[in-house]
Amino acid sequence: MFENSEWIKSKKDYGDVCPVFKFDFEIEKPVESAVLNVTAMGVYYANLNNSRIGDFYMAPGWTAYDKRHQYQSYDIKNMIHKSNSLEITVGKGWYRGRICEDRINNGWGGVSAIIVQIDIVFSDGTKKEIISDENWKTARSPIKFSEIYDGEIYDATSTEYDWEAVGLFSFRKDLLIPQEGETVSEHEVFLPEKMIITPKGEKVIDFGQNITGYVEFETEAKQGDIIEYSHAEVLDADGNFYTENLRTAKAKIKYICRDGRQKYKPSFTFMGFRYIRIDLAPKSVDINDFKAIVVHSDIKRTGFFECSNSKVCKLFSNIIWSQKGNFFDIPTDCPQRDERLGWTGDAQFFVKTAAYNYDVKKFFAKWLHDLKAEQRFDGSVPSTVPNVLGNSSCGRPGWSDAAVICPWQIYLHYGDKKILYEQLDSMVKWVEYMRRESDGYLWLNSKHFGDWLGLDNEDGSYKGASDYILISCAFFAYSTGLLVKALKALGKPYAEYEELYNNIVKAINQRFTEFNTQTECVLMLCFDIAEDKKKIADKLAKLVKENGNKLTTGFVGTPYILSALSENGYIELAYSLLLQEEFPSWLFSVNMGATTIWEHWDGKNENGQFWSAKMNSFNHYAYGAIGAWLYDTVAGIKIDEDNPGFEKVILAPMPDKRLEWAEASVITKYGTIRSKWYYDKNDKIHYEFDIPVSARLIIDGNEKYLDAGKHFF
Ligand code: BGC
Repeated sequence: MFENSEWIKSKKDYGDVCPVFKFDFEIEKPVESAVLNVTAMGVYYANLNNSRIGDFYMAPGWTAYDKRHQYQSYDIKNMIHKSNSLEITVGKGWYRGRICEDRINNGWGGVSAIIVQIDIVFSDGTKKEIISDENWKTARSPIKFSEIYDGEIYDATSTEYDWEAVGLFSFRKDLLIPQEGETVSEHEVFLPEKMIITPKGEKVIDFGQNITGYVEFETEAKQGDIIEYSHAEVLDADGNFYTENLRTAKAKIKYICRDGRQKYKPSFTFMGFRYIRIDLAPKSVDINDFKAIVVHSDIKRTGFFECSNSKVCKLFSNIIWSQKGNFFDIPTDCPQRDERLGWTGDAQFFVKTAAYNYDVKKFFAKWLHDLKAEQRFDGSVPSTVPNVLGNSSCGRPGWSDAAVICPWQIYLHYGDKKILYEQLDSMVKWVEYMRRESDGYLWLNSKHFGDWLGLDNEDGSYKGASDYILISCAFFAYSTGLLVKALKALGKPYAEYEELYNNIVKAINQRFTEFNTQTECVLMLCFDIAEDKKKIADKLAKLVKENGNKLTTGFVGTPYILSALSENGYIELAYSLLLQEEFPSWLFSVNMGATTIWEHWDGKNENGQFWSAKMNSFNHYAYGAIGAWLYDTVAGIKIDEDNPGFEKVILAPMPDKRLEWAEASVITKYGTIRSKWYYDKNDKIHYEFDIPVSARLIIDGNEKYLDAGKHFF
């Protein structure tokens, strides 16, 4: 692909203005097929004869551009006329825009450029190739400024294009790869729920749901009128518009009107928001002119959960919304502040829940290919993929382990060994990195995010009190254990790693005998390290009870704490944590009006005061990792590791009377698995299962084999 095409750019420096590239061509004969292959340094959209081609927002997506750069292929047969005009507009995007506070360009290009190849086959069998070369034209587009964090400035009065010849840009083409991931496009639309005049006198529109996407408006205006609005996730304690947690992200739109009726939505930016503040608008503009459009990767929903407790249902809905909000071509930590990065830890903590909720096979495959590409020669894995933080961020326990945990989880959910084959080298390299850094079996590492945002350290600390060394060793054991499983699944030799795993586990049990935090206990239990599980489960239960049935865990402990309890004899206590409403708890944020998962347990406290503005996202899926427990323990739809991809299923629901009923369903390639239980008037429990595959049913420790079909107990 692109053998004959050249990268083209504007000869002049257009500064912040987004360039548009144009090529006119004639088609004389009937067309059998026509495909546009295109990509940009930056983000682009293409119009043919004034109609948009495809619906991929922020194409070509975000990859480790210096190693892998996606191009897209669009079928344009039905859009082709006799005389054609192709226009491609390019924004800075991740390639050229500022990423992560004020890091500019990340070592990627400083130029907006495109490369194009159109393949046309005529009905008479002849072919034509249209390429990007010096015959294209370029001009300044009406998009005067566009940055992911800062928003967009659009000048609708600038309708005359000053076309000039393009320049050729000599750059590698060998990095170009066909589209691998899901595309990103528009989904739900939210109309304004209400207009608020805040105590400060700000005009604020509430869309009722924290989302990722942008606002579209259609309105009547006069030439030169200006419409300006800002985005926010929350209002402060006094009810004023609050943007401090966006840090340096301006998240602002400025639109300069022409005469008459006009419609606008941004082209190259996105925001995480529930509210917009109208900063400037002519009188003719009405709140009903605005609507909020949800934008995310085109992943298909596969998982559903409901129960009798409306707050738990809301929690589940918040998990879904945080997944939508942060599955934006890559798995991001958050969609609103000057970050929005592919944090590896967040992705691995959430991957299991993500795969229950949606079909994320393709989405993760693409991102994992980037992870592999970004992995350093010594095997260490960056904290963010693509790696924008540099080498110093590589090799962090719990974060870098995404290299092993994510492929393994994707394999378990979809039963396709391809991901294991593709990632195996990377998995081995990561384990070998830890082995080299360790004293053989113990990884005495304190280069760490710790139990990120755990609550058991002194006030204001970002890192929980859990022992860094224990966390390092626990992940060393866990990833090595998963590598053994992956090697077994692939029919490859595994004895060396099994021995390593056994030795790590032995060494951890020898070195660590006391566990002082919930997260330390959780890791020992859920990573199957503890020799005396009962002792540690009792300790965990004690720590939770002493804390008033509340958790203190951060990113590392939270995803597994309920399983650590439910699988070790403390199901009732697990439910107590799930149903806890006081801070810190999942339902505390629900009671505080959350519509997505918060980054911090008290993103907003009882008095409406915020936690540190420096690290306070209201749309962070990490703590939403609890979703998997709703599926696999409350409803009991568990993956059978010996029959991955739900070829067979384990049904092991664990009900609790504080819920009257619960039901979940999971769409798999074999059909939909449904599990439901409810208590009748006499407090008798009933189970209903509808399964397309056979199952092992485990209830109260009793096992039974079930054929595919409907079952009632
Ligand atoms: C991100 C997190 C991430 C963490 C690691 C934060 O800034 O938002 O989600 O995992 O840094 O320290």
